[in-house]
Amino acid sequence: MSARRPAVLFVCLGNICRSPLAEAAFRREADAAGLTVEIDSAGTGNWHVGNPPDARAQEVALAAGVDISGLRARQLAAADYRRFTHIFAMDAQNLADIRARAPHDATAEMALLLDLVPGREGASVQDPYYDGEEQFEYAWADVSAAARELVAKLAG
Ligand code: 4NP
Repeated sequence: MSARRPAVLFVCLGNICRSPLAEAAFRREADAAGLTVEIDSAGTGNWHVGNPPDARAQEVALAAGVDISGLRARQLAAADYRRFTHIFAMDAQNLADIRARAPHDATAEMALLLDLVPGREGASVQDPYYDGEEQFEYAWADVSAAARELVAKLAG
C-alpha cells in the first residue's frame, strides 16, 4: 500500500451522466466518513467538453442532496494516469479504452467501478443517456453502492 493520499478519477464516455454521478456519490460518502481524497471525473469522448451534467443526472443527484450543476465535462488526459491513484471505468468498453490510452509511465490502478461491489463484479453501470429517467435512478443506485465500498476500502 502506498502512503500517498488517494486520488480517484471516475471515467465514462461523455462525462455528463455516469461519471459525474459517481463523483457526486463518492464525494458525499467521503465527506460523511471524513476521508480526505481528491475526486474528479472525465470522459473518454470529447463531444460534451465544457458542458454541465445532463439535466436528468443533475436531478437525480440533487434529489439525493448533491448539487452537481457546477461540474463541467472534460476529456481524459495523459496526465490523469499519474495524477490519480485510482481510475474507475463504468463499463468494459470504457475500461478497454482507458487502458489503451494509458501512457507508459501510468501509475494509477485501473478497474471497473462495479468490481468494488460484492456480487456485481464485471457488471456495467448502464449508459442512461438514451434512456428514461428510471435508468438514471439505476445508475445513481449503482454508483452509490460502489462509493460506499470505496470509502470503506480507502478508509480501512
Ligand atoms: P455518459 O453518457 O458516458 O454516462 O456521460 C453518455 C453521454 C453522451 C453520449 C454517450 C453517453 N453521447 O454519445 O453523446
